[in-house]
Amino acid sequence: MSASAKRRVLTGDTPTGCLHIGHWVGSVRRRVEIQETHECFFLVANLHAYTTRADRPDDIRNDCFNVVRDALAMGIDPDKAAIFLQTEIPAIMELTYLFAMLLPYNRVMRNPTLKDELKVKGLEDNYSFGFPLYTVGQTADILAFRAHDVPVGEDQVPHLELTREVARRFNKMYCGVPEKAEDRDHVELGGVFPIPEADVGAVGRLIGTDGVQKMSKSLGNAIQITDTPKQVRKKLGRMYIGTDNRQPTDPGEVDPAKNPLFQYVETFLQDPDERAELRDRYARGDDLGDGVVKVRVAECISELLEPMQERRRQFESDDVVMDILHDGCRRAIAATEETLERAREAARLDFFPRQVSI
Ligand code: TRP
Repeated sequence: MSASAKRRVLTGDTPTGCLHIGHWVGSVRRRVEIQETHECFFLVANLHAYTTRADRPDDIRNDCFNVVRDALAMGIDPDKAAIFLQTEIPAIMELTYLFAMLLPYNRVMRNPTLKDELKVKGLEDNYSFGFPLYTVGQTADILAFRAHDVPVGEDQVPHLELTREVARRFNKMYCGVPEKAEDRDHVELGGVFPIPEADVGAVGRLIGTDGVQKMSKSLGNAIQITDTPKQVRKKLGRMYIGTDNRQPTDPGEVDPAKNPLFQYVETFLQDPDERAELRDRYARGDDLGDGVVKVRVAECISELLEPMQERRRQFESDDVVMDILHDGCRRAIAATEETLERAREAARLDFFPRQVSI
């Protein structure tokens, strides 16, 4: 299949530091799969990081290197997928401004994810102009690539809705797509932008090693790629699984939604027979203590991490990461300049042709 016949995928992350196994379970694992079948663009949303950390540019720059290094360690293949920095793509900036004109102010502010963030971050009456603008920017991240599929977590769905609205509006306003057109027909009817779809099923959520909250570096309940087998064992040893003093002969809870240890068993043990046996023995209380299960899970996690740690060593140097980003940015620029050219023509902004090179 030629690149253009493949469906195009765009997704991204705001760089917040190193990746942990929660990211692997939640999204990277799936990306490693789809890079084989889709034309993939993975964005490092470094400009978005400035919405809340504009005063810490060095940290943000560092975090860019860390997320890219870890994504590569986890198996993202830079020959297959383009990994790139948001701020190196001028088409994203230009489309953000243009799209901002197509969206009523109140529509942007109604976004539940945006409202939530303002509340959680305590920013409700003191946020930058750029904070709500990032949601418009995200529509440009996606549409600049004319992406078909956007693998994201549930919390990003409102941003995808906004993106779909912008795409429909643009296509109808500037490309002659009829008012009542079905989403899937937009491109055939002359629209510049396919109406992108959120691929929510592709993203899961791993509980942290505290057994209570979602895995997150800032909560201190994360297993990092670089953790040694001993560190992994220790972290798992501390996991609270909802019962105090369970004896190996007590019947136990094996529903992964109720017992975090079994979420780990289901996620990290490769062999389905072994999983079934552990479930069965644990549920019946057939002499299976929590500690034994934890040790086994820890072993499997370390087996998963070993090749990642190996690969990570190849990407230790900043120069190597820079080369990969350079190549990714070039490919991203090529794809997005083509979109921009079409969009500028549609919106009667095609005064002079131009070329971007890095
Ligand atoms: N807002 C997303 C997050 O913080 C990151 C992001 C930026 C993104 N642009 C995107 C995700 C485009 C998907 C598509 O997780």
